[in-house]
Amino acid sequence: MSNISPGPDDEGRRTFLKMMGVLGVGLVGAGALRGVIQNLLPSTSNVVSAFPTLILISGSGSPIKTGDITVNAPTVVLFQYPLENEPNFLLRLGDANNNDKAIESVSVSVPATGKSFQSPGGVGPYRSIVASSAICQHLGCDPPEIRFHPPSDASFPGLVHCDCHGSTYDPSKGFAVVTGPTTQPLPNAILSYDSTNDTYKVVNMVGPTIYGHSNDLSGGNQLPSKTTTTVLVQGS
Ligand code: FES
Repeated sequence: MSNISPGPDDEGRRTFLKMMGVLGVGLVGAGALRGVIQNLLPSTSNVVSAFPTLILISGSGSPIKTGDITVNAPTVVLFQYPLENEPNFLLRLGDANNNDKAIESVSVSVPATGKSFQSPGGVGPYRSIVASSAICQHLGCDPPEIRFHPPSDASFPGLVHCDCHGSTYDPSKGFAVVTGPTTQPLPNAILSYDSTNDTYKVVNMVGPTIYGHSNDLSGGNQLPSKTTTTVLVQGS
């Protein structure tokens, strides 16, 4: 709509273009998540009145299953939410032996404001699957500069690290700030798991506003009823 300022939309386009520059199609371990970003650059911006509920699907259009997501995957699995061109991490967290690790809901502090929020915790049969914005809260770097490091990575074991300026977040603690310069955790995406058919939806977000936005629901285009998971192959 015309009353949307151009800044956030430009940020979304910048993020999208960077994603497209590095996106590849690959395997997540033995899983078969093949990803495709389906929508091209938006021509207009819309105001979305509420966080949408979207089914997470693979590039083939089928709802992703727990087995499609590898524990401690060294590649990066992304999906767009709540608007087009807004990348989010989809992580299945595990211990050093790659066994699923149940993620509890915790209080997450926001150093920038002195306030806190309650993280959603993990979902899925092992409560090990979490999600967050993949846009660094410091100055907006996105994958592959910011990415998850599995527990076997001695540098940042089990953490999300941004190579741009060194910010680190803990996905097992609501993507809390571990090291700056960021002063804000990553916004957590809230997932819903349906155990009857082993499918996942994204239903909301909690925590700080997504970097580059004054409002999570403005500055971009509305997504369809599904959001496609995409595998980013690092180093491409
Ligand atoms: S943009 Fe990520 S640390 Fe600066």
